[in-house]
Amino acid sequence: MRRAIVMDLPAEPVSDFYGYDRGAPVDRLYIDAFLARHANRIHGHVAEIKDNTYARRFAAGHLSGVTVIDIDPNNPEATLIADLCQPLSLPAGTFDCIICTQTLQFLTEPATALDNMRNALRPGGTLLLAAPALSRISCGAPDSDLWRVTPSGLKHLLTHWPGPVTVTGHGNLATCLAFLTGYAAGELPSEKLTAPDDPRFPLLSCAAATLFTH
Ligand SMILES: C[S@@+](CC[C@H](N)C(=O)[O-])C[C@H]1O[C@@H](n2cnc3c(N)ncnc32)[C@H](O)[C@@H]1O
Repeated sequence: MRRAIVMDLPAEPVSDFYGYDRGAPVDRLYIDAFLARHANRIHGHVAEIKDNTYARRFAAGHLSGVTVIDIDPNNPEATLIADLCQPLSLPAGTFDCIICTQTLQFLTEPATALDNMRNALRPGGTLLLAAPALSRISCGAPDSDLWRVTPSGLKHLLTHWPGPVTVTGHGNLATCLAFLTGYAAGELPSEKLTAPDDPRFPLLSCAAATLFTH
């Protein structure tokens, strides 16, 4: 008979909603830090998926407009109903920045969606993308939750991007375990949140991909 060595692994999360019912989810801290680092790219005409929260919060320059994109026709905040995976569903050469957070995992054709967003950027525009490298299955749309992407996978998807691309992975073993278990960021010792990213345990993959100006 095998002897149980680890007795205290939880069978159930403490939160069934990413920790939202306890505070700010751990992945959102990493997304905030990523967008704050690239805030100088958020200006002019910005597109964001689902709502305009991050554009309004992080824009470092003047916002001339925010287009909220969603495939969901029932989203009252959406100003452009479009499937990112449908080529040319977005207006060409329109946006100075596209903020695409926590959406890639729902896209049936991620590479096509990246091409589509690239086509919708103005020269010099930037795609700021964050996607889970690790997460529980979506609470809201479990059957549509298709993928997790590692930093290397994201780099691979952006191999042919015509301009400078920076891909980063964020997280460490403690924040991965805390996020999966449903603890909010505020419940973790601050040294776990501020610890250097451990490339063995990314929680979030991020890319800042800028188009050449010509
Ligand atoms: C979990 S939300 C993430 C967006 C939000 N800004 C955030 O950071 O949490 C995912 C959104 O992507 C939308 N979505 C899923 N598939 C899509 C597609 N193919 N084209 C456009 N939007 C899509 C969903 O309807 C939903 O509003």
